[in-house]
Amino acid sequence: MPPRVVLGVGAGIAAYKCCELLRLLTESGFRVRVVPTPDALRFVGEATWAALSGEPVTTDAWTDAWQVPHVRIGQSADLVVVAPATADLLARAAAGMADDLLTSTLLTATCPVLFAPAMHTEMWQHPATRANVSVLRSRGTVVLEPAAGRLTGADSGPGRLPEPEEIFAVAVRLLAGAPRDLAGRRVLISAGGTREEIDPVRFIGNWSTGTQGYALARAAVARGAEATVVAANVALPDPGGAKVLRVVSACEMRDAVLDAAAGADAVVMAAAVADYRPEARSAAKIKKAGQPPEPLRLTENPDILAELAALRHQQRGRQQRAHPEPGHPQVLVGFAAETDTSADAARAKLARKGCDLLVVNPVGGGLGFGTPDNEAAVYAADGTVTPVPRGPKEVLADAVWDLVAARLS
Ligand code: C5P
Repeated sequence: MPPRVVLGVGAGIAAYKCCELLRLLTESGFRVRVVPTPDALRFVGEATWAALSGEPVTTDAWTDAWQVPHVRIGQSADLVVVAPATADLLARAAAGMADDLLTSTLLTATCPVLFAPAMHTEMWQHPATRANVSVLRSRGTVVLEPAAGRLTGADSGPGRLPEPEEIFAVAVRLLAGAPRDLAGRRVLISAGGTREEIDPVRFIGNWSTGTQGYALARAAVARGAEATVVAANVALPDPGGAKVLRVVSACEMRDAVLDAAAGADAVVMAAAVADYRPEARSAAKIKKAGQPPEPLRLTENPDILAELAALRHQQRGRQQRAHPEPGHPQVLVGFAAETDTSADAARAKLARKGCDLLVVNPVGGGLGFGTPDNEAAVYAADGTVTPVPRGPKEVLADAVWDLVAARLS
């Protein structure tokens, strides 16, 4: 039996993009039943959904009542995907209403549920919507962060439907049984490589592409987290369902990470951060002057991970004085791409950084920057070491979240 997917469609202009999502689902062999809200049919008509899915399309519980559709569709689903999820639909789902076939289906579904919201920025940022999203996430429902960009009119901002391919990728993970052990958690990931400007055309940089950081973000989203990525110079498509903040230099990354880390349950520093930057940036392009240039004078960048660990230490002290039994502390994870992967060097770096987990991965030999595969040993502050054999970066991402989730539970 092919997996049964319910595609709930809300009344938003982005409904037209969900025809593509439906295509991706049916072409993967899933049996898809489309359940639009009554107003969603104003954007894309019943005939389109019926023809593309090969299934009947109804919006209320009265059509074919003998089949008890308001209960049966949800009960027999392996996954419910709601896209676009409007502010109204999120509100009705959070309140547990059952005033049309889709919300009834959501109340009877015991399978994973994925919401892909799309709405205007003001609606997404309204405290009522924020609260509804929190409620849904705390129940284990996966709610993607909308993408930022052009909205229906001339305005732009957060509120765009994530790309159909990105929604599809999360749907496939959920159907494959991805754990939702980060549901209700906020996680922060740094990705890519910082650039330190020398002059308007040159910089000191590194080879990091952000592939591992984006794999971590995608995995976190599928496991139910509210994920924020601080991305330094990443040219890859945004990880759907995560909020992406762009930076260039280590100092910019520090400010963005420290700001977003407040209230995060876990921070994973997968970015390659430059240890040094030029002491001064030349405002004009440095020209060849017929003699060797002045040596570049460098100054040390802040160590963001070590700073996060120091902040946590201070906060823990304050919390312990106020509440002798505080909640779990923030979990901190560092990455170390090394040519020396000895256990002694790894343990020394783990202690120096003050984080909980250090993912040590060798560079060279087809592994490391820009490659699809990685291999690592994850050193934990409690003395354990978890080897992750060579494989796709997605596998290492899930191995990291397994260890993080265990520390959060
Ligand atoms: O010391 P090293 O650069 O090898 O440490 C790697 C880890 O520390 C990574 O997680 C990286 O993101 C983080 N880091 C940092 N700030 C720096 C340098 C590295 O947070 N200035």
